[in-house]
Amino acid sequence: MQDNALWTEKYRPSDFSEIKGQKEIVKRVKAFVEQQNLPHLLFAGPAGVGKTSLALVIAKKLFKDVWRQNFLELNASDERGIDIIRNKVKDFARTRAIGNVPFKIIYLDECDALTREAQQALRRTMENYTQNCRFVLSANYSSKIIEPIQSRCVVFRFRQLDKKDIIEIIDKIAKDEKLKIDEKSKEALYEISEGDCRRLENILQSCAAISSHITEDFVHSMASVAKPKEIREVLELALSNKFIESRNMLLSLMLNYGLAGIDIIKQIQKEILELNVDNKSKMLLIEKCGEIEFRMTEGSDEFVQLEALLSQFALAGISLRPGA
Ligand SMILES: Nc1ncnc2c1ncn2[C@@H]1O[C@H](COP(=O)(O)OP(=O)(O)O)[C@@H](O)[C@H]1O
Ligand SMILES: [Mg+2]
Repeated sequence: MQDNALWTEKYRPSDFSEIKGQKEIVKRVKAFVEQQNLPHLLFAGPAGVGKTSLALVIAKKLFKDVWRQNFLELNASDERGIDIIRNKVKDFARTRAIGNVPFKIIYLDECDALTREAQQALRRTMENYTQNCRFVLSANYSSKIIEPIQSRCVVFRFRQLDKKDIIEIIDKIAKDEKLKIDEKSKEALYEISEGDCRRLENILQSCAAISSHITEDFVHSMASVAKPKEIREVLELALSNKFIESRNMLLSLMLNYGLAGIDIIKQIQKEILELNVDNKSKMLLIEKCGEIEFRMTEGSDEFVQLEALLSQFALAGISLRPGA
């Protein structure tokens, strides 16, 4: 059986010591955790450098086996507005933290996607729930976060991982996954990843899905972007009642190009209009996309949701065939 676990999750640091680079940040955050006294935090920095991972380590170290009950992760750009965020925060903050720590943690990703007005509302929410919640905010650029929020947080600027760190991560994965990677390929992986570990791990996993012997050319060929042509093929397979083939192709596209479920949904939605089906089916499928996208942002499993979407294409395909 194919191992479907995404390496970005499989190799997520589970302890402070496993977070590469960001040494000063880790040191200071660790001290907060040891004192069980956490201020609001703002993690600023590019993608795939350990912001979410560090927030998770904080929660695991503070709350131990009850961390899930005391940790809420929200994505500002997915949550369709500040009201949804406020309601979720309210629900979560209503009950007391479980265990010895007197507060819960809310991790709000991509805060720079919020408008200034929404950020004002967020600031008020932070104030209202400071008693029993600490906020860890993450953003690509701290300059896009309004001053009143910045001044309520301890701001940490995450840096892109350097070559040494990236190579250590490659070596660790290569050892665990029994991959053969020469120095040139490691260089190529470092350059293509641009210090973004998520991208690194996705490219590596997609190479490894094909061969455990990883070469420089191979790395380069895997790093290109998903072509709409291939997404179209996935949909056409589903429509023509080849559900399993369609699903497998989608999975390998996601791994090969390191695409997140949300990106795939957006590409699928664009392709629907071009498909050779009637208008009513197109509308139904577009509506399904919206529903699936919503479920994904609510935290449902991406593969399960995408499979559910593909099954809708398969059903649409069946109803189009004469005699169905
Ligand atoms: N500093 C790091 N040290 C080790 N692994 C990392 C680091 N940063 C990212 N990774 C790897 O990349 C994955 C995604 O990182 P994440 O913390 O979600 O990045 P982001 O900064 O975008 O929140 C992690 O699961 C982990 O496998
Ligand atoms: Mg993140």
